[in-house]
Amino acid sequence: MFKRFRRVRINEKLRDLLTQTKLSTDDFIYPLFIKDGTKYKREIESMPGVFQMSIDEILKECETLKKLGLYSIILFGIPDAKDSVGSDALCEHGIIAKAIKAIKQAHPDMFVTTDLCFCEYTDHGHCGILDPVNETVNNDATLKILADQAVIHAKSGVDMIAPSGMMDGMITTLRKALDKAGFVNLPIMSYSTKFASAYYGPFRDVAESSPSFGDRRSYQMNPANRDEAINESIEDEKEGADILMVKPALAYLDIIRDIANITRLPLAVYNVSGEYAMLKAAHKANLIDYDKVMMETLLGFKRAGADIIITYHAKEAAKILNESKL
Ligand code: PBG
Ligand code: ZN
Repeated sequence: MFKRFRRVRINEKLRDLLTQTKLSTDDFIYPLFIKDGTKYKREIESMPGVFQMSIDEILKECETLKKLGLYSIILFGIPDAKDSVGSDALCEHGIIAKAIKAIKQAHPDMFVTTDLCFCEYTDHGHCGILDPVNETVNNDATLKILADQAVIHAKSGVDMIAPSGMMDGMITTLRKALDKAGFVNLPIMSYSTKFASAYYGPFRDVAESSPSFGDRRSYQMNPANRDEAINESIEDEKEGADILMVKPALAYLDIIRDIANITRLPLAVYNVSGEYAMLKAAHKANLIDYDKVMMETLLGFKRAGADIIITYHAKEAAKILNESKL
């Protein structure tokens, strides 16, 4: 006797009935990069299909996204002027504040999340205020300005904030600051388990956020550590995060599953720039069936335990999903 597993694979309709994981346009958050100016739209060489855009172009892009059934975006602001404390991020008229207001005004039906960090805004490219003594990011000084940044985003009308700087105590600090300012219903999606990853390379081109010296290993996590990865997310849950995240996604599917098993909070994954760039390069070199590999990859994230997938593939995937529904 042996088990005939193929019995349930033999018929297409039966295969459909038994499919456990399905992707949908509702799973995706699409990242957008915003620059000052007008009619500005520049493609990033390492990330074909990904652009830096001025606010007017972003408003048009939202139109396109909605037609595809995509209503969720995450914004990254890229200011023209940077300084040691990231002042543009702390100003009501800064690039991100302007963008949130413009998008929510033109597209109130879009769900707008903002990445909350300082690396795009500081001239040194690190994720917070530097400590002059040991030349790394000063945790507690950064918490203070992160709180200010969060309140500015909230007042501008953002729907959710996503702190990505991996500072300790970040979620407690932000929850307190938002509540005190009256934003008790503003959700926090924490980049709770974020690794110091070489997969962020292309992002730093598009976000103009490479550290001018050193790296981020004193605040982002060591890719080798599984226990610490779980502890980081559980701590953010305790501190009051509403949604947790694992980032990057592809090389960390085990961590995604571990955290999904241990929390009952929703879990996001960030399918990062380097992962996107690899598929694009393989496609360009004619090495893979791009659409199929992309969909299989995204499905893998969801099967591993992701409720939300932040991905540069969102538009391409939405097109495929929409066509297959017809
Ligand atoms: C900012 C931030 C980064 C990414 C998202 N938010 C870069 C970094 O930490 O260096 C990476 C996203 C990607 O690679 O697509 N802290
Ligand atoms: Zn950062």
